[in-house]
Amino acid sequence: MAHSLFVFGRSLPEPFAGSKTTSQKKSQYSNGTQATLTSGPLKALNAICASLTGTGEGAVGKIDHRCVAEYKSSVDDEYHLAVYDPGRGSVMAAVYDMNHGTVSKYTVSKTARDGAVVLMAMFPVLMEDQEFKDEFDRYKTEHDAGFPDIDKAHDIAAVLCDNIYRRVSDPACAAHVKADIKSSGNLLPVPRTSLDAGEFQPTIVTVGSFQILSQNMSGTAKKSSVVIKHADFIGKYPINGSRQLSLAEKKLVPELPVWHILTKDEQYVCEHILKSTGKPTQIRNIMMRGEAGCGKTSMAMAVAAGVGLPYVLYTCSSGTETFDLSGGIMPELIGGGAGDGLDADIAKLQSLGGLTYNNIAKLLQFPDIDDIEYDPASSYQLMTGTGKPDATPQECVMIMLEKAMSKVQQITKATEPKDGQSFTYYESNLLLAIENGWCIEVQEPTVIAQPGVLTGLNSLLEQNGSISLPNGKTIRRHPDCIIICTTNVDYAGCRNLNQSFLDRFGLVIDVKRPSAEVMADRAKILTGYDDEYTMMQMVDIVNGISDHLHKKGINDGTCGMRSLIDWALSTLITGDPYKSAFYTVISKATTDERERSSLVSSFLDPILLAQVSA
Ligand SMILES: Nc1ncnc2c1ncn2[C@@H]1O[C@H](COP(=O)(O)OP(=O)(O)O)[C@@H](O)[C@H]1O
Ligand SMILES: [Mg+2]
Repeated sequence: MAHSLFVFGRSLPEPFAGSKTTSQKKSQYSNGTQATLTSGPLKALNAICASLTGTGEGAVGKIDHRCVAEYKSSVDDEYHLAVYDPGRGSVMAAVYDMNHGTVSKYTVSKTARDGAVVLMAMFPVLMEDQEFKDEFDRYKTEHDAGFPDIDKAHDIAAVLCDNIYRRVSDPACAAHVKADIKSSGNLLPVPRTSLDAGEFQPTIVTVGSFQILSQNMSGTAKKSSVVIKHADFIGKYPINGSRQLSLAEKKLVPELPVWHILTKDEQYVCEHILKSTGKPTQIRNIMMRGEAGCGKTSMAMAVAAGVGLPYVLYTCSSGTETFDLSGGIMPELIGGGAGDGLDADIAKLQSLGGLTYNNIAKLLQFPDIDDIEYDPASSYQLMTGTGKPDATPQECVMIMLEKAMSKVQQITKATEPKDGQSFTYYESNLLLAIENGWCIEVQEPTVIAQPGVLTGLNSLLEQNGSISLPNGKTIRRHPDCIIICTTNVDYAGCRNLNQSFLDRFGLVIDVKRPSAEVMADRAKILTGYDDEYTMMQMVDIVNGISDHLHKKGINDGTCGMRSLIDWALSTLITGDPYKSAFYTVISKATTDERERSSLVSSFLDPILLAQVSA
């Protein structure tokens, strides 16, 4: 039942140097075999005792649900750092060189490191066991007295080492402590960017004092995050108790995916919406700003789930006209008796909002453009039912166009002109939400080129706003309607927001980039790429490049969550993260050749190439 966290045969620290490594004393969790004293646990225990009495360096603490530790190595100014998540059993660790400010990888092996810092990080969890706690207290008494009775110390050390070993290595142990460590002994890296951002700053210090992790290297303090249960959030902010949603509306209320991690911001927004209800200035307009992929859309949907309202999306483009905000013209789809399944198609299109290319694509279940790019052969097979291994993306697009055109022809033939008028006015999602009191996300209003359009949007943002439609109807804003504008602050086409527009938002939320582990997790769920070690390195590189682009004001490209997702997907295909980086992260970051090669040499190579050669 070997576990990579434990390497036997390394020399033991004082006062056990030269002592027997085995002992007849055992932990209650022993399977009967003798206990073995091991270097890593003993070094961790000594460091903790010394820090507690103030005679040595080293620290243990907590951030939210995770534990962190620092171990001062006997090598000059070298600190070992570990971040441990007991729930998942994940461990990140690194060696930090104080003199050069460099971070390098931490490997547990006979010739590399002994895992002491990891065991320190596990200390708060180890202490939850009565046997461990009792024996640790005894060990500390011996330690503080200078180990006067070496045999007694040896006995206690044996029970402690055995207790740790059995609990960590045996998943069936009643007091099991989970620690997932690769058989290579390579621990997940501590991302440099997260370290610089103060992401691992402990909120509770249980042992000693932190030298490295407590430093807030970039000045942004990390707020401790509290786990918010879905059940305590979904539908818990009803702004209109008497309201009955129709069946169609109920279908539009988002269901939070189980993996959605709720944040304080989502709670905060919902509380404001709820508590301002009925006041003359209800908070119903919210602006969310943040880099692409930081989770704005997910947050807007979560807010809708919190208040229990339908959610719809309206995406602006640089060509959006005032008229587009309210709706458009489409062929009238009367249908009825069209037969050949066309009735169902027409009904589906109507429910989707009309005859647009996107809706036709949904109706015909076309593959994504991205899928076509990645895998034209499967897309071809999917659309035609025949295999063509050498199909090109162009061929697939042609087929899509042909299929869409023929469907449009069938449908328009089947639709009877009503009163000689074959076109009708339809309302945009924005208008539907305003009229019916839904939650609408208006994505990227900042890219709208024509200044007049934003003014048009302004009037819709008014609490008692109303708008007259070309068909003579006047629409008033429903008091429940929530408008959430989301915008990428670093988006290339983003112009500074017009003051009077910004003024109309009751809340402006700056959505922060999620922590490195959360980013890695989300990318893993979305892509299925499960090499956690490489994923953490990729997150570190993506964040490093993103920060660099911001600092240097480079805005002819982007680097963020989406690049990470593309990179992970591409790596699944190529099997080579280094190669895939060029087609995803680097090429998307900027168009400037010189800048690209500097991104490669300053961000990609130091992390990924160093690993290949190591
Ligand atoms: N709270 C969350 N929990 C889990 N995954 C999330 C969360 N927020 C966002 N994600 C994931 O991150 C990706 C990007 O989020 P999205 O909301 O589309 O970002 P934005 O709208 O800011 O560009 C999504 O695909 C989503 O799956
Ligand atoms: Mg979005």
